[in-house]
Formats: sequence, C-alpha cells, structure tokens
Amino acid sequence: MTHSTNPPANTLNASTLPPFVDPLPIPPIAKPQGVRPSPSSPKVTLPYYRLAAQATELKVHRDLKPTRFWSYGGCVPGPSLETRSGAGVLIEWANDLPQQHFLPIDHRLHGAESDKPQVRTVAHLHGAKTRPDSDGYPEDWIVPGKSALYHYPNEQDAALLWYHDHAMGINRLNIYAGLFGSFLVRDAVEDALNLPRGEYEVPLALFDRFLTPEGQLYYPVSDKPEAPWVPEVFGDAILVNGKLFPYLEVKPCKYRFRLLNASNGRFYHLAFANGMEFHQIGTDQGLLPAPVALKSLLLAPGERADLVVDFSQHRSEAVVLKNDAFVVMQFRVSGQKMEDSSSLPKALRPVHKIPESQAVKTRVLTLDEYTNPVAEPILLLLNGTYWHQPITEKPVLNSTEIWSFINPTDDSHPIHLHLVRFQILDRQHYEPWAYQTKNELKFLGPPEPPAAGESGWKDTVRADPRMVTRIIVPFEGFTGRYVWHCHILEHEDNEMMRPYEVVSG
Ligand code: C2O
Ligand code: CU
Ligand code: CU
Repeated sequence: MTHSTNPPANTLNASTLPPFVDPLPIPPIAKPQGVRPSPSSPKVTLPYYRLAAQATELKVHRDLKPTRFWSYGGCVPGPSLETRSGAGVLIEWANDLPQQHFLPIDHRLHGAESDKPQVRTVAHLHGAKTRPDSDGYPEDWIVPGKSALYHYPNEQDAALLWYHDHAMGINRLNIYAGLFGSFLVRDAVEDALNLPRGEYEVPLALFDRFLTPEGQLYYPVSDKPEAPWVPEVFGDAILVNGKLFPYLEVKPCKYRFRLLNASNGRFYHLAFANGMEFHQIGTDQGLLPAPVALKSLLLAPGERADLVVDFSQHRSEAVVLKNDAFVVMQFRVSGQKMEDSSSLPKALRPVHKIPESQAVKTRVLTLDEYTNPVAEPILLLLNGTYWHQPITEKPVLNSTEIWSFINPTDDSHPIHLHLVRFQILDRQHYEPWAYQTKNELKFLGPPEPPAAGESGWKDTVRADPRMVTRIIVPFEGFTGRYVWHCHILEHEDNEMMRPYEVVSG
C-alpha cells in the first residue's frame, strides 16, 4: 500500500467526470445450456453452463466512449451464477479471445516467458471446495479456440464466491482486462433468516482502473521497457459493477449488499458520507454468527462482505458511499412510506471456534519483498521460495494446521488459500529491528483477536505489516495440488504464490 504510483500523466482524471449519471448495472444471472452427467456419479445429471472469455466493449460512464474489455460472456463483471449448497454444476470455460494481448506482458515473470502464447486463460472459482483438476491450477491454461470443463460440487455453506482468471504470470492483466464474475451459493440456513432478497439483494463488485483520455483501460508500466511489471496498481477510476460513480434507486427499507473487492491491489475503506451505521452479516465464506454494527468497512483484494443497510430513516435523501475521501456511488432513497417485511435477525449462523489444540502442526511462513538499490520492489516471495521450487507445504487431508505469517514488509498482504476455509486466530505486533537483525520475534503487545466482521469463515486474510498473523485451517475436501498466494495480483504474478499439496494420511 505504500509504493503508490502517482496517476500516470497520460491518463484521464476520473474525478473530472460528473458523478451519479449512470444507473448501477446488475450483472445478469447465468442460465444453464442444458444438463450433463456428473463426473462423480454418472447417473446424476448436473446443470451445464458455458462461459466464454471474449473481447467486448462497454460504456463505463455516460460521457466516455465504450471501453474495450475482456469479459466472460460479454459483460464485466461476468454473469452471476446462482446455485445451492450440494447442487453441483458443470462449467465449460472457453477461451474465445484474440491471439494478442492488449496489456503489457512482462516476459521476465515466471510462466510469461516469450516462448509462451500471449493469450492464455484458466478460470478459478475463488472460495470453492473443488477437486484439483477443476480448481484452475495456474499452469493449466488454455489458448484461444480451446475450452476446459470444470465440475463444482458446491458441498459448502451459502456464500458469495467469485470466479476469475488465474493464468500464470499474466493473471493481473487478465483480471484487469475484466475476466471475473460472481458465484452465489445459497442454502436452507440462509433461506430461513428472511434477509432482504429479490430486488432488495444487490451485488456490488468494486474494481479500480486507470483510463486513457479516450476512455480505454490503461495499465501502468515501469520506466524499464524490458521489465514493465509494477509492484502495485491503484487506479483513480473506481467502478461498481462496471460503472464509474453509478447511482441506485432504492426504497426506504433494508437492502442486502454483496460486496466483492475485485481490484488488483486497492484496499477499500468504505463508509457512508452521512455517517450512517450498517450491519455486516457475512464474510468470505458465509454468514457471521451475529450481525456486526459498523460505520466503516475495510475490504482487501479478494475479500467479500455481506451487508445489510437500512434506508428507512433516509426517505427522499441521496446517500453517498465513499472510499475515504472519494466518492464511490449514490443511493437515491424514494420518499414513499413502506412496510419492510425482511428481517435482520440477532443470530445468523453459529460459527464453532476451532480450538488451537486441534492443530497438529504450526507452519511459520514469511512474506518477503526484495528491492533494488533504489528501494523499488522487484520480487516477492512466500517463505523465501520461488514458485518452481519443490512443494514444502503438505498438510494431511482432514487434519488441522496453524499457519503463522510473519510480515516484515511495509505492505498488508491479503493471503488466500485455495480449497479450504479457515478462521483467524490473532495478529500480533513484533519489534522489526530485532527480527531484521537477529531473526528474533519480540512481541510488542498482546495478540489481537480478529475484528468482529472477520470472526467467521474466511478464505483470504489480511497479513498486516510488522505483525504475525495466525490462521487455523482444517484441510478438508480433496487431496491434490492447490495454491496459496497473496491476492495483490501484481505480487502474485511476481512469485508471491506457491503450490501446496493436500496428502492422504
Ligand atoms: Cu481469488 Cu487464487 O484466487
Ligand atoms: Cu481462490
Ligand atoms: Cu502481497
């Protein structure tokens, strides 16, 4: 978060555009194209979807010409999938993209060497419990004209998952180009809560971009043409569901907003300009035990938040959502009086705290940044190891482990593990000098428990600077090879990703 680049001189200053002139788009719900036999039990048929990555043009603001994107199914975010816990689906992920990339590939990054095809895609469903061959391993990419059929059993709790590209070495460019969308799992526990639904449940996917004066995507580059990679990207155009500063007409009642931070590197610190309170009811992997009253929300790349916002006290007002000082979007509350039949229950879904004693192993893992002589980051590693080195993390299926991340860098790194869900144990400040010079961990205070809004099932955790962040992880589901990585996409593409393998006991 510290090495922020100034908005490049050749970009459009997004704040010069008039806000709140475009309605908030809602991504369409994907429709199955039929049924196909389930790979796990051929007598059962499953809904079959086909989602193709394709070039498209979309208007992000009334006063701009259409912007070129790469999308799943022609819209950004792509169509939302809706399914139920335990109801599996099949998705054929097709690559119908052109042969040339339109964003700056750095051929020095792992997996993006000049002998590799420029345009490669592989879809990953973030937060899903899937077999390794359907998880979108970064090296399982396909080229234009090809497709891959993936199976998602959805044997997991109701939650907002999201799908996105994961191609080795160009993931940051493919997602920046627009290759992502939402995937909702629902279940009976959620149904029974009478939360706002239908038109009162609205997805909000946030992603920041730089735009050229012509309204095209601009991805920043370093000043070295042979090594264009930059350590972080913070665009000044914050898009919500693909529009810049949109508005949404709402009624004076409760709404459920499903937030997704789909940005490459931006952390959001969201609040309403009028200071009004709202409730967080869920996190990455589903409902929290109880609603948490908040006035602001921190959301790191890859994280999701499930919110209930009550507009009933704000009839005829325009309520603005802000990211620190910057405007994100506007809610126009109608003046009518109305009955609100939805509820915000006091208890949501019990989250049984995993005792530390259940862990059979603790792994201490460092988050490392390497700089050049002028202090520019040039490489990031997990526990000092490169992607191609042998697998070092091999948890046993159905065992529980504690992973303890030491972060000596100045950045917060959102760490994500594929396949599993976990709980945050705590974060603890340590004295950086003793660590740097003597490799000694001297704690500066007591361990801090996770915030209330993080005290549920997570799949992405902020590992904050100069702190030790501990998570407790039951490795359930399947054996095989998966990945864990930092969800700042620039970091992930430059070695801050490692394979791990769940092995049978
Ligand atoms: Cu959001 Cu490895 O993924
Ligand atoms: Cu993931
Ligand atoms: Cu990182």
